[in-house]
Amino acid sequence: MKVFVAEHPLITHKLSVLRDHKTPQPTFKQLIEELMTLLAYEATREVRVTPTTVVTPVATTTGVKLSEPLPLIVPILRAGLGMLEGMTRLVPTAEVGFLGMVRDEETHEPTTYAERLPESLQGRQCFVLDPMLATGGSLAAAIEFLFERGADDVTAICVLGTPEGVEKLQDTVGGRNVKLVLGALDEGLNEQAFIVPGLGDAGDRLYGTAE
Ligand code: PRP
Repeated sequence: MKVFVAEHPLITHKLSVLRDHKTPQPTFKQLIEELMTLLAYEATREVRVTPTTVVTPVATTTGVKLSEPLPLIVPILRAGLGMLEGMTRLVPTAEVGFLGMVRDEETHEPTTYAERLPESLQGRQCFVLDPMLATGGSLAAAIEFLFERGADDVTAICVLGTPEGVEKLQDTVGGRNVKLVLGALDEGLNEQAFIVPGLGDAGDRLYGTAE
């Protein structure tokens, strides 16, 4: 698994505001989108393209277009939904599938409660969006699901990750074609399996408590 941790002052600046417990919900939402767009630049570095011919007002030249089947973007509900707009702004023709997952507060094990994906992902490049890679359980299950459907190339994009989460993903994906793009690699997990220093509960900060 290839791991990329962003080291860009603009990303770190936006992350610092995002982490602040005083940052209000509308600003938090906007920052998640902006960070996604910045991370998408690295995440799509190996997006598949096909040569094409372009006629400019001056001459005929060569260019590229996204290959078919088009990439599939998979936000993990709820919090991953906050990243979707930031990604589709950059890749507007990509298709979007959804996975709903929730982590048990006691055991920290993920459960899948919703799934809306193409039946076959054969030959598809998939981009999974989730702001938080904590224990790694949710993302590992999501990636496993995509491979079971036939995906052969998965890029996961998270705003924050932990060494524990990266290790869990590494164990799960083995030698398969997976890339992980992180806005930052934090210190680790606390006893509630929250990322430290982290930013709290991304889903709650985006959408409020769901109880
Ligand atoms: C959070 C987060 C990830 C997951 C990370 O979602 O958005 O999906 O937990 O934890 P893990 O790496 O230990 O699996 P949560 O279950 O709180 O659901 P939500 O997005 O609906 O708030």
